[in-house]
Amino acid sequence: MSKTLRELFHDEMESEATPKPELKPEPVNGSSAVDGGLTEQELKSAEATFACKDISVDEAIAVDALEELQQEFTSVNLEIPEKSSTTTPEKPSTDFITIEASRFAEESKEKEDVASLEGERSAGSLKKESSESSQDGEPMKPDKAKKTVRLQSCESIMSDNVTLQPKATALKPCPSVGTNLESFDAALRLTAGSLQANGESGGASMMEEAWEIIKKSYVYYRGKPVGTFAAMDPIAEALNYNQVFVRDFVPTGLACLMKIPPETEIVKNFLLKTLHLQGWEKRIDNFTLGEGVMPASFKVHFEKHPQKETLVADFGGSAIGRVAPVDSGFWWIIILRSYTKCTRDYTLAELPEVQRGMKLILNLCLSDGFDTFPTLLCADGCSMIDRRMVSLLDVTVKGNISKSGIYGYPIEIQALFYFALRCARQMLKPERDGKELIERIDKRITALSYHIQKYYWLDFTQLNNIYRYKTEEYSHTAVNKFNVIPDSIPDWVFDFMPLRGGYFIGNVSPARMDFRWFLVGNCIAILSSLATPSQATAIMDLIEERWDDLIGEMPLKISYPALQGHEWRIVTGFDPKNTRWSYHNGGSWPVLLWLLTAASIKIGRPQIAKRAIELVEQRLSKDGWPEYYDGKTGRYVGKQARKFQTWSIAGYLVAKLMVENPSNLLMISLEEDKKTAKPRLTRSVSF
Ligand code: GLC
Repeated sequence: MSKTLRELFHDEMESEATPKPELKPEPVNGSSAVDGGLTEQELKSAEATFACKDISVDEAIAVDALEELQQEFTSVNLEIPEKSSTTTPEKPSTDFITIEASRFAEESKEKEDVASLEGERSAGSLKKESSESSQDGEPMKPDKAKKTVRLQSCESIMSDNVTLQPKATALKPCPSVGTNLESFDAALRLTAGSLQANGESGGASMMEEAWEIIKKSYVYYRGKPVGTFAAMDPIAEALNYNQVFVRDFVPTGLACLMKIPPETEIVKNFLLKTLHLQGWEKRIDNFTLGEGVMPASFKVHFEKHPQKETLVADFGGSAIGRVAPVDSGFWWIIILRSYTKCTRDYTLAELPEVQRGMKLILNLCLSDGFDTFPTLLCADGCSMIDRRMVSLLDVTVKGNISKSGIYGYPIEIQALFYFALRCARQMLKPERDGKELIERIDKRITALSYHIQKYYWLDFTQLNNIYRYKTEEYSHTAVNKFNVIPDSIPDWVFDFMPLRGGYFIGNVSPARMDFRWFLVGNCIAILSSLATPSQATAIMDLIEERWDDLIGEMPLKISYPALQGHEWRIVTGFDPKNTRWSYHNGGSWPVLLWLLTAASIKIGRPQIAKRAIELVEQRLSKDGWPEYYDGKTGRYVGKQARKFQTWSIAGYLVAKLMVENPSNLLMISLEEDKKTAKPRLTRSVSF
């Protein structure tokens, strides 16, 4: 039996749509005993004491105790699939590299032990084969079932002038790694020497080095790993880089889940700890923030007398610009789904407090207001781009200062919003108010995908349409719905737009279109299937057509193009960190490699990821894993970039783990939503 990637995804969706059987312990004398000691009732009553609201720092011990109980509970009931310990791909046949992937083997498909992923394009397609039995002729046991994903060999999928960088040629770690880290603050729990040893041995692969640094970046709270430092630069001032950022932890969490065997504990602890922080009362001056707001970051504070560890969280009150992180809650939901997908530990997502945490996040976004659009109105600096990138003016003249940037309805947030809605849709239980919330989610998913697919999409034909727009149209028959004045189209877009390709533009609101390219929004749109299949293909076409601009010498441009001169002064407010081609203003961020890799595998063009990974491998480790690069092609290490930036390292690991085993993609990707897919909005035929 042979299945395509699309069918495999469909199976995943179907299995998610079906309610999972509740994992309940065997009843003993009317109640259920857990781990030979606790009854289920005792456990429930312990859970009830876990009031998410207003838990003070000192009460954390009680929460920890509960977490322990939950761990006991889950350890009895969990079905964690046995993973193959084989990480090395089988020897490539003439056409394929064969990769073991047992993680997603489904018990219900015992006989389907070999599968392949078939992409949309023959050139980069991932193929599948199946065999009915194991080598000895016996049907494979469910837990032994394995999927073998066959990825076309690099020779056949690479374009003529591109070859795969052999793993062994990865550059040696920067010689400064060991010595610099030796002097690093003991509070960061670095054990000096191991990295130096790594450097001295000279033969360690970049991945091994990456794992070592990631391990050193673990943050412990009461003896348990709960996240990772944002950076461990031994020279630069720590500022808030010695904190665990929610968004930064996502690639680390994914790397831990994709690892063989997976390291799930840190992800679970992170999810529970941030959930606990969500329960705090959040105040900035005299104003109380919404209940559902998740922290941007947190840190563990050590007190010497008496010895005590406490958590300190930032909900935007300490952040530059005092903006709450809208993306944190969405990432939290997304990584919760990844955790569930990897471990099949449904009990975590089904915990009442986890269900409540999800609902609180969604309530922040789904409440009624004066909105006329399904998109989410955001303040500047509320996501990865956490500094001002917005214009105070709306000068719609040929001077091209008509940016709305991050303020308004940024694609970065809209795509994450959509992704989180769909992930939550899979995990929310319909009990009590759940059913009503699920209905609201369904409606928003439909409206949001229509709005983004229709009004954010830009390709050659659509650009030409906007260029010819009439203005001041009134009523439902208006073509130029937002009264965009064609003179506000910046000159660069006409040159940038290829005949083949397209993308979701940065922001759309009345009379304002920010035509800039933002990578996170576009890749998340592909992963969440907010982009239609043809739009997703067109985004990848654009990346290939504009490789020098969007990838350059060091992947990947966070936004394109850079704001310069007067435009930079107005839009960024003279921000010295966001000068042209630096930081958020056209800088290149290695962390984004994992998003590009996931998106390119999803649409069957892994050669795009491989080209980008090859570039990263030439410099990232040698340069000390910087946070970002500067310059039009990303040639220079960013002027204020931290070294040993954890998410630069984790982004590389996730990209490698996905290329090595494309089935890892299922942890962070959703198939098209059949309900919203019709009527299909295709990109205009521009080539
Ligand atoms: C910078 C980035 C932000 C990131 C933080 C920690 O402020 O702009 O996205 O979360 O550093 O790495």
